[in-house]
Amino acid sequence: MADRIAVYPGSFDPPTFGHIDLIQRAAKMFDTLIVAVARNSEKAGLFTVEERIEMLTDIVKKYSNVEVTSFRGLTAEFARQRNAIALVRGLRVVSDFEYEITMAIANQKLNPTIDTVCLMPSESYLLLSSRIVREIALFGGSLKDFVPKDVEERLLKKLKRKPDPSSS
Ligand code: PNS
Repeated sequence: MADRIAVYPGSFDPPTFGHIDLIQRAAKMFDTLIVAVARNSEKAGLFTVEERIEMLTDIVKKYSNVEVTSFRGLTAEFARQRNAIALVRGLRVVSDFEYEITMAIANQKLNPTIDTVCLMPSESYLLLSSRIVREIALFGGSLKDFVPKDVEERLLKKLKRKPDPSSS
């Protein structure tokens, strides 16, 4: 049987425990999971795409069937190029739904061979997002419950902050 390949597209700016939770779940469901950072020129982003790839590569090194890359242009087209059968997305709260279904329908029209699989995160990560992480980092809050140590250190370096004493 052909490899069941899925693409997990996103901004990952930065990757959080919520993303990791999803990667772990999706890696069990598919033969190959491609975590793909979108090179989206509209969003400047805090981290460069290369930095996000570095962080994600470190995160996925323990999963033998997960690879990290980036893509330009349409997710549906990238998925076609990689022979993926599914796109993986996280669905946290009701407010995510409208965005996710709009994207899923658009992607289905662009590439009818692909299905979007939405996974619910663990309860602890229901309200976690990269935007919240960037905001907490900006105002010096502890990040230990939200991102791996390496990501925290990179955030502090980027924002030129000293580590929060309660996070060690
Ligand atoms: O992590 P995000 O920011 O929610 O991810 C959004 C992303 C990157 C998956 C979405 O913006 C995307 O697919 N961008 C690529 C361009 C594209 O295909 N747009 C049409 C989707 S409706």
